[in-house]
Amino acid sequence: MDEWDRVLEALRRAGLDLSAYKEPQLERRLESFLQRESFPSLAPFLEALDTNRDLFRRFYSYLTIHVTEFFRDVPYWAAFRSALEAQGRRHVSLWSAGCSWGAEPVTAAVILEDLGLSYDILATDTDELMLDAARTGRFSRAELEKVPPPYRRHFRVVGAEAVEAVLERGRIAFRRHDLVAEPPPGQFDVVICRNLIIYFRPPARAVALERLAQAVKPGGFLFLGATETFLEAQHWGFQVAAPALFYKKSAETSEQSQTPRVESW
Ligand SMILES: C[S@@+](CC[C@H](N)C(=O)[O-])C[C@H]1O[C@@H](n2cnc3c(N)ncnc32)[C@H](O)[C@@H]1O
Repeated sequence: MDEWDRVLEALRRAGLDLSAYKEPQLERRLESFLQRESFPSLAPFLEALDTNRDLFRRFYSYLTIHVTEFFRDVPYWAAFRSALEAQGRRHVSLWSAGCSWGAEPVTAAVILEDLGLSYDILATDTDELMLDAARTGRFSRAELEKVPPPYRRHFRVVGAEAVEAVLERGRIAFRRHDLVAEPPPGQFDVVICRNLIIYFRPPARAVALERLAQAVKPGGFLFLGATETFLEAQHWGFQVAAPALFYKKSAETSEQSQTPRVESW
């Protein structure tokens, strides 16, 4: 067992299993957290982690990357919109896994609002601090810059600095869920998991992708991050609908007639 494995083992005993994540980034973050919080070494930190729930949450939040924004990779969301539009659904059930502070599920909700569809969105993350922020439904006004102008009408300004989405056709529920450690929270028409599996080591990535694939209903979509690959797509019964957007074939009809035609903006 090398030194880092011993660190991981100690963290696991303190209740934090980080074995799913790629190492280099975690190591750097651990070192800088110890410095930041003035722990002279790992031992007193692990001791404190055992009893101090607040430290535990802060540490976990510090380790994980939460970068997100509304309409991240705009052309991908455009393809997502036209794929759904082509299906002619009335209602969409959607799971956003690794939702951070909520920009992703809100983006999906705003697109569904714009399409006139009703929806139920479950948005999950392992980071309780991010979930707390997401549940407020309030975002910094500067975030609105990322929203393409035609969609800005779905947001309203609250106070001097905040905005919130005006959601009239559905709701977003936020809850804690670990994509690697827990089974999927149900089956959905759309599963979005973007910019999360890139941080996993290969075994955890395989588990996560299997869970995500299982969570998509036949005829539904799996939407991944712009740089994420899904080489196992065919094995799990999916075909490419657009870059990073995968369509789960349904049993009844042939593949050709099932694939929705996706246009870009
Ligand atoms: C880089 S953010 C991506 C946010 C958003 N999906 C996007 O693409 O803009 C990754 C998020 O995944 C969360 N996360 C990390 N490990 C997770 C796990 N095992 N299960 C669920 N979420 C996890 C992190 O807390 C973080 O908020």
